[in-house]
Amino acid sequence: MPIKSEKFRQFKTFSNCFTYLFDDYILENKTMELFGKWKTEYFKNANPIIIEIGCGRGEYTVGLAEKYPDKNFIGIDFKSNRMWTGAKQAMEKKLNNVAFVRTKVEFLDKVFAFSEVNEIWITFPDPQEQKSREKKRLTHPRFLEHYKKFLVPNGTIHLKTDNHKFFEYTLEVLKSRDIQPELVSFDLYKENGSIFSEVKNIKTYYEQLFYEKGHSIKYCKFNLK
Ligand SMILES: C[S@@+](CC[C@H](N)C(=O)[O-])C[C@H]1O[C@@H](n2cnc3c(N)ncnc32)[C@H](O)[C@@H]1O
Repeated sequence: MPIKSEKFRQFKTFSNCFTYLFDDYILENKTMELFGKWKTEYFKNANPIIIEIGCGRGEYTVGLAEKYPDKNFIGIDFKSNRMWTGAKQAMEKKLNNVAFVRTKVEFLDKVFAFSEVNEIWITFPDPQEQKSREKKRLTHPRFLEHYKKFLVPNGTIHLKTDNHKFFEYTLEVLKSRDIQPELVSFDLYKENGSIFSEVKNIKTYYEQLFYEKGHSIKYCKFNLK
């Protein structure tokens, strides 16, 4: 396993990895090269694009890509040394429906064009529990508005978290926007219904850790309007 600095270096050379950072967004205000062209120029197919925001090591993105070869998956995180793991796995498994982008969630409207993304996964985000940090929560209305800039109209968002307060907060935000979630579970691994089996198949790195510690995993699926 290479050291951190070597992972940073290798990430820049991997054909399935891209970077879009602060200078591009703030200084140049330019869009990423693949903006609006992910399907035609990178994936070279017309399949839907699903992104995982804050993907960490990217195991979930890779797991989904293996399971659904007829969909395209892109992991997003600002830590390239973490995504190195998933990117390397995807290459070793010869998965050509996977990519990783080192960027901030806040910049995604310059990475994807309107309607370019079909689904979003938000997996174990930082709950930003302090009231003063509410605006940083990834399900704050300001982020939901942001996602509408690149998600298909009425597009699906999935959320997995172990944090009860963050989950309740999210459900309140949805209620205030008159969004009725399609699926809600406060303890995913105690659900018997087959409607949840799909999302129990693969665990993210944090999900596995919390699950092993006996924490209840919360999940919700909703369409953004
Ligand atoms: C708690 S970890 C969860 C990782 C992974 N989703 C999992 O479940 O194992 C949160 C991840 O979100 C990333 N992150 C936090 N804020 C971000 C932002 N504004 N833009 C991009 N990534 C962010 C962090 O770098 C970190 O890898």
